[in-house]
Amino acid sequence: MRQIVTTANGGVGVLKVQEAPDPTPAKGEVVVNVKAAGLNFADILARQGLYPDGPKKPCVMGYEVAGVVAAAADDVDRELIGKAVVAMTRFRGQAEKVAVAANQLFAKPELLGFEAAAAIPVNYLTAYALLKVMGSLDAGESVLIHNAGGGVGLAAIEIAKKIGATTYGTASPGKHEFLRERGLDHAIDYRNQDWLPVLKQLTDGRGVDLVIDPIGGSHWKKSYAALRHTGRLGMFGVSAASANGLRGKLKLIKAAAQMPRFHPIGLLNKNRGVFGLNLGHLWHEPEKVATWMQAILAGVSEGWVRPYVDKAFSFAQAGEAHSYLEARKNIGKVVLVP
Ligand SMILES: NC(=O)c1ccc[n+]([C@@H]2O[C@H](COP(=O)([O-])OP(=O)(O)OC[C@H]3O[C@@H](n4cnc5c(N)ncnc54)[C@H](OP(=O)(O)O)[C@@H]3O)[C@@H](O)[C@H]2O)c1
Repeated sequence: MRQIVTTANGGVGVLKVQEAPDPTPAKGEVVVNVKAAGLNFADILARQGLYPDGPKKPCVMGYEVAGVVAAAADDVDRELIGKAVVAMTRFRGQAEKVAVAANQLFAKPELLGFEAAAAIPVNYLTAYALLKVMGSLDAGESVLIHNAGGGVGLAAIEIAKKIGATTYGTASPGKHEFLRERGLDHAIDYRNQDWLPVLKQLTDGRGVDLVIDPIGGSHWKKSYAALRHTGRLGMFGVSAASANGLRGKLKLIKAAAQMPRFHPIGLLNKNRGVFGLNLGHLWHEPEKVATWMQAILAGVSEGWVRPYVDKAFSFAQAGEAHSYLEARKNIGKVVLVP
């Protein structure tokens, strides 16, 4: 089978399509013939050598796939063979075939093609955990979604609308019209102006009930300042560090040095909450994640979950796919197809 190998830390030139032996299912696993694999910002950071959770190089990235079950271990339900599925994969998903634990597998919604289905797990689970589970977003509340035009951002807009919250989102200005069409109430250009005074003006100086922030570093301090009383800040990424080579390492050090420290007394007196989310550290909680995934997949048939695939790249174009995300050209999801 063919797979996309990140051969070393570096620019997109380190990505190579290579042949490897077909995987066989270990105990509790199935093998999926991959029709589409999601590309995530974490894959970019891993290639740049800035992602501590990434496997040792050379490695095959890929946290999510949609495809058809080709084989199953003896202890797994044989009925799964031939079924169209969507799955969370702990790496190695960007390949023609991947072995995956059966408890990380879900039936692909019939309404969706393979590319749209592959766009669901990481983006929607992240947004669901941030807004619904940890952020406790309620009807009538407000949420600021940073990078609203990204994969997680679009999923967050849908979940917030379903909850009945008012949505504010930062994004490059070229993405605003599309975001409004997707239901975003207030789009804020954060590339050409300071977004915080704009948000304050839009909220009559109060701020919002929840902010979800994947940018990191000093940006978390600013997002904290955007909270009204009883507001919560969800921190879940460090996009600020994205760059190749030494520049990336320096940006990561700068982002780490500028991260805020939250004092309990300050939180108490301001009636604020802060939390972090790393979906990649939830593999030991499959039941919890499965419950969230069932709610999301039900949302597909209910009509409020509409995964948006911006572009599909072939495995041979993996470098172009990475460059597309790095250059901020994407709106929503980018997927890779064998
Ligand atoms: N903790 C978790 O469990 C978890 C899970 C999923 C994702 N994440 C994090 O969430 C963020 C979004 O992930 P994603 O996979 O959905 O990707 P994405 O949102 O599609 O990321 C690309 C978008 O982010 C914005 N962006 C902001 N700073 C950027 C930078 N320095 N370089 C390039 N783009 C930048 C750009 O939008 P604009 O044009 O609007 O600037 C760009 O289009 C990433 O930081 C990722 O690591 C965390």
